[in-house]
Amino acid sequence: MFRYVLAHAGEHPALALAQAPPRLLSPREEAILAGLTFLPRRRKWLLGRWAAKRLLGELAAEGNGLVAGLQRNEDWRRQLSILNDEAGVPYVDREGQGRLSLSLSISHRGDWGLAAVAIEPGVCIGADLETVEPRAPALVRQFFSEGEADRVARTGGGAAAERMVARIWSGKEAVLKAMGLGLRHDTRDIVVGDERTTPPGAPEAWRALDIRLAPVLAARVSPRSLTVLWREIDAHIATVALLL
Ligand SMILES: CC(C)(COP(=O)(O)OP(=O)(O)OC[C@H]1O[C@@H](n2cnc3c(N)ncnc32)[C@H](O)[C@@H]1OP(=O)(O)O)[C@@H](O)C(=O)NCCC(=O)NCCS
Repeated sequence: MFRYVLAHAGEHPALALAQAPPRLLSPREEAILAGLTFLPRRRKWLLGRWAAKRLLGELAAEGNGLVAGLQRNEDWRRQLSILNDEAGVPYVDREGQGRLSLSLSISHRGDWGLAAVAIEPGVCIGADLETVEPRAPALVRQFFSEGEADRVARTGGGAAAERMVARIWSGKEAVLKAMGLGLRHDTRDIVVGDERTTPPGAPEAWRALDIRLAPVLAARVSPRSLTVLWREIDAHIATVALLL
């Protein structure tokens, strides 16, 4: 279904300093990093590349066909560039081979970076990581559907409301990323519902969510279908949307 890595900035001392760990980046990525001057952005960008390359390394070690032929010599990370297309969607470019045909998604929140890839060919993935924390009420008013806002209100506030807000928001972002749209699209066109039966093959601890799309998005998705899974990890909620 999908594979993921949740990486922490503490895994390498350079990451916390917004510097690249040795032999992590390809020359193309080094050039991109040199253009990122805002420290928090550098840290997030690096954490995403760190998580994504950890994941690709795990797949290579298992002989997964998605990264066929990738030899994990001491410079293998430098042969891979995690780049973004014109919409911002990340992809993997391998030196001398071009763009790999795998779907990758990245999210970063605080000290954590999430990278996920779809295992089945042709499936598009969107991943999002959110912190469970107090949020401005305007987030729900402006970006949630009426039904979603009602569900948040019914939690009675406090920690339960924070978890519900994070879960709904994360679901919306994951779906918009799987579609390659990001937050350019109206987030109320994705309605995140309750849990549903988790499909076989889902990684341990991930549970399926009911998702309804407004006609404009449903038409974009058709004839494909959407599976959305979420899980809690400490004070975070991670969501993965798969466009099958
Ligand atoms: C893209 C967006 C959904 C990210 O949400 P966020 O909560 O700020 O950040 P996250 O950490 O969860 O995700 C960031 C990652 O999403 C990915 N991403 C960016 N645009 C994306 C898109 N259209 N579709 C799928 N994934 C996208 C990138 O990999 C990015 O990380 P990277 O820049 O380090 O590679 C949101 O910022 C957005 O849509 N912004 C408006 C459009 C935009 O500015 N896009 C970037 C153009 S280059």
